Amino acid sequence: MEEDYVFKIVVIGDSAVGKTQLLGRFTRDEFFLDSKSTIGIEFQTRTVDVARRRVKAQVWDTAGQERYRAVTSAYYRGALGAVLVYDITRRRTFEHAARWVDELRAHADKSIVVMLVGNKADLPRAVSADEAAAFAEEQGLFFSEASALSGDNVERAFLRLIEEIH
Ligand code: GTP
Repeated sequence: MEEDYVFKIVVIGDSAVGKTQLLGRFTRDEFFLDSKSTIGIEFQTRTVDVARRRVKAQVWDTAGQERYRAVTSAYYRGALGAVLVYDITRRRTFEHAARWVDELRAHADKSIVVMLVGNKADLPRAVSADEAAAFAEEQGLFFSEASALSGDNVERAFLRLIEEIH
């Protein structure tokens, strides 16, 4: 069946927080242990039924590493949603979330819906969920912890984001 809508969603965050694995989990229910750093830009799609509408989520992934990021404006153009990922085991990746929010404000559409995701929830944490939830609320972001490895909350976080778009 044809979809009613195509939603472009971008995945952003520091290097090695698990952006590519979250995308693989959501679109194909896969996880690769020997994930390589992303070079350039890739996207994957998955069609889902949300609120009685068929939505093709076109999810874009790029490298978190500065040196591979020649993109910005083109990457964010037309994006209706963003998944901003940090790694709950590495505090710096959470501290950098504010910078990623600034980048979104500078390059993305003002109405973009953002889901902050604390990934690697299967591992011991260095960032509390309360602290991340408070940051998300202050910045007007939705928030969830998740694990691309176990799959916990991955689908739920993406579906919530898709629901909140429109
Ligand atoms: P860049 O492409 O460099 O920006 O990295 P990325 O954010 O796409 O990270 P990637 O998905 O490549 O994952 C980085 C590493 O973290 C890999 O070794 C993954 O196997 C691991 N990883 C990703 N998600 C999880 C998770 O939920 N739990 C655990 N334990 N490891 C994870």
